[in-house]
Amino acid sequence: MGRPVGRPPVWIMRQAGRYLPDYRRVRKLFPSFLDFCRSPEHVAEVTVQPVDHIGVDAAILFSDILVLLPPMGLNLEFVEGEGPVVHNPVRDAATIAAMPGGGDHDDINAELDYVFQGVRLTQRDLKGYVPLIGFAGGPFTVASYMVEGGSSKELARLKGLMFSDPKAFHMLLTKVSNLTAAYLIEQVRQGVDAVTIMDSWAGYLSPADYRTFVLPHTLSVIRRVKAQFPQIPVIHYANGAPTLLRDFVSLGADVVGLDWRVELQDAFKAHPGQTFQGNLDPCYLFAPPEKIRERVAEMKKVVGNRPHIFNLGHGILPQTPVENARAFVDAVHGE
Ligand code: CP3
Repeated sequence: MGRPVGRPPVWIMRQAGRYLPDYRRVRKLFPSFLDFCRSPEHVAEVTVQPVDHIGVDAAILFSDILVLLPPMGLNLEFVEGEGPVVHNPVRDAATIAAMPGGGDHDDINAELDYVFQGVRLTQRDLKGYVPLIGFAGGPFTVASYMVEGGSSKELARLKGLMFSDPKAFHMLLTKVSNLTAAYLIEQVRQGVDAVTIMDSWAGYLSPADYRTFVLPHTLSVIRRVKAQFPQIPVIHYANGAPTLLRDFVSLGADVVGLDWRVELQDAFKAHPGQTFQGNLDPCYLFAPPEKIRERVAEMKKVVGNRPHIFNLGHGILPQTPVENARAFVDAVHGE
């Protein structure tokens, strides 16, 4: 990781998504988003789409960080216009104690076989043209949906549990971490070339609380993946957390993803030698292509020959014009 390549590499978070007409066509075949995720042939089809349509240098497996929830006993539904909803959220220590993930014998990978089939079919279709990135959510972010029952503005219930019953909170994150490590390791065994850990909500924590309650769990996931597959690059991404950058770097991931709240030059200055990923504001893709090209040229000046992967600072938004996404990728490639 961090070795020089011929041209700057670029991929986009949520690149297989609603901004692509071809994605929307396939998406319509499935009333339920989870059923879509559970159809390996369609997963492979939409995973490859952005490689063909916008020319990104990596594919990211089409799935969701929340596929872990049903095998852990949570009744998850993606509600149109609302996002993920958990009908039986986890709120107390007794429920957490009864969940899988406590020991080596608890294996939910069998129930996630459709993901691994998707990995194999995608690799069949990619034919080595670009690498395939697998992923999982950070334990804190995955736990947030389990406890909150969906997306939340304050994470009041999750942090309430964290501060009032730290033992139960750690038990929950330990279980999620155990299953996440096993899940990522299996993705690699089945053929992904790199993995991303997306801890989107870590920025809700103070640095001290992040270090006490979350960092050890994320670290244990990264260490277990690295122990089995030292050569597989691990990317860590979090959002809204410029004050936690030092801590993210300390996790030892090969690549640290940045959102647009961090100045690239500051990150490089503070952490020389670290490979960073990011960090164009996704809303920049609503500006005309010439402005996107100007902004990318500025970013390239800052990057120079430092180790860096171009990406947005968060997922691409559904309203993004496809030609603007393509302009971003072409500008990175210098076309
Ligand atoms: O990046 C990719 O192209 C791969 C696929 C991918 C999806 N979700 C597909 C998806 C990835 C990597 C994710 C990660 C994910 N999922 C995160 C972490 C990254 C981030 O965005 O912060 C989180 C927090 C989730 C949870 C999730 N999934 C939410 C909150 C929602 C609803 C919001 C929304 O955008 O609709 C989803 C649904 C989801 N996951 C969609 C897609 C393409 C949209 C559903 C649809 O197409 O109907």
